[in-house]
Amino acid sequence: MTQIRCGLDFGTSNSSVAIVENGATRVLELDLDNDNATSLPSLVYLSREGEQIVGRAAANAFIERNVDREVVMRQVDLGVDIEAYVASEADKEGGYRPREDGSNVREAVRAQALVEVNSPGRLFQSVKSWLRHRGFHGTEVFGQLYQIEELVAIILEPMKAAVDAAAGEPVETVVMGRPVRFSKRDGENDLAEERLRRAAEIAGFKSIEFFYEPVAACIEYAVATDRTQRLMVVDIGGGTCDVSIMEFGGGSDAAGRLAESRILGVGGVPVAGDAIDREIMRAKVFPALGSRCHYGPSKLPMPQFLYNGILDWQNLYRLNTEENINWLIAVENDCTQPEAIRSLRALIQRNYGYPLSRKVEHAKRLLSTEWEAPIELHTDALQLSVDIGRSEFTHIIEDVLEEMRESIIETEKTAGVKPEDIDYVLTTGGTSLIPAVRHMLEQRYGGEKLLKRETFTSVAQGLAIVAQYV
Ligand SMILES: Nc1ncnc2c1ncn2[C@@H]1O[C@H](COP(=O)(O)OP(=O)(O)OP(=O)(O)O)[C@@H](O)[C@H]1O
Ligand SMILES: [Mg+2]
Repeated sequence: MTQIRCGLDFGTSNSSVAIVENGATRVLELDLDNDNATSLPSLVYLSREGEQIVGRAAANAFIERNVDREVVMRQVDLGVDIEAYVASEADKEGGYRPREDGSNVREAVRAQALVEVNSPGRLFQSVKSWLRHRGFHGTEVFGQLYQIEELVAIILEPMKAAVDAAAGEPVETVVMGRPVRFSKRDGENDLAEERLRRAAEIAGFKSIEFFYEPVAACIEYAVATDRTQRLMVVDIGGGTCDVSIMEFGGGSDAAGRLAESRILGVGGVPVAGDAIDREIMRAKVFPALGSRCHYGPSKLPMPQFLYNGILDWQNLYRLNTEENINWLIAVENDCTQPEAIRSLRALIQRNYGYPLSRKVEHAKRLLSTEWEAPIELHTDALQLSVDIGRSEFTHIIEDVLEEMRESIIETEKTAGVKPEDIDYVLTTGGTSLIPAVRHMLEQRYGGEKLLKRETFTSVAQGLAIVAQYV
């Protein structure tokens, strides 16, 4: 039996796996429910009964079972005293961390939690982005503690099974991708990689090598061409923007070309498609749900925590307290945008946070080919209808684009190259399809240098090729 080599790209939004068999690279089918069967949405649904559903079916299960349902909340006493940070500050990703100036006030408090007592299951999305959070170890799901590594392993398991089936035997060796920077903080990058390794072990792999995702995408292209060339890869996915610059010295076959290659520089930022979705929410959806509305005789502004809660749709149920709902009903009767506030209340009460995030993501994707896209969500009480135009969208994501551009320029500096030294710029990852992203690259390198690679599988293919040689 020929030995199978395997490369696995665990993505923030989509995961894929490729094998090399008798010298040929093949991407494996992972999810027949998905439009593109070779890419597995990185989603997990854990039901109250203990089912573990992965991929497109996980999203479908959540929509069928959790959405449009009366959420029942209860405050429970966890029966323990905990030492809590009383003074903490919100970090950019929406979590809380201790103040950097060390001015934490700590005290013992009785641990209480507001829990949803009738939830049929929980959906987990973008778990790769959690790997970097030192303070986040895992989560309790219906009385069982899942460590972050275990949640990731649930997604990796069907991928491992697909590789084993293709090989006809268990495959224990894998080359896995990793972003250049999981996090802007150095220490968190090592932590994230260690957790990813542990997850791969739980899924059954024994020997795990890591390789930078954009370097893999570069190799996927370069081994098939015998030119001497300098290549840049810009891989922008759901969670990270990754950049690599490599030099290839020609060579008559793939092994020779790899031996003659050199990495000049890598870089990146943990800012990509998920961050763009959040910007659309803030700029277009929140105002349609009354974020700029004023209420009461003093015409007070709406509290923003309600809107930030929508960004974190997995925890949206926490806003569904009697106190919040009664308050929203009162506001609705005396405010400048009663319909918008009614929609906000329906969104919270009927748990429509996830469908809303899907609509936003869908509109964003449409804007890659259309000039205008609608964001529409209609139920009995929830009436949301917003249009977003391409140029408005480009304006909304200016800061995000600038962060990406800076990381690209930073990588050029690390590599010691100028735009004119680069022969081709290979683009991959779903977010690289956005016209404004392409325009930014065209302006810097010239449109004739841009080469679009396979959007969702070029990294996995590159990793499989690397696996042949490590
Ligand atoms: N046509 C499109 N236009 C704009 N964005 C898109 C398009 N298709 C997909 N996306 C976005 O691309 C992202 C997913 O891309 P991809 O699958 O390459 O990411 P990933 O590999 O899972 O993430 P990462 O590499 O950051 O870990 C999502 O944010 C998705 O909304
Ligand atoms: Mg990716």
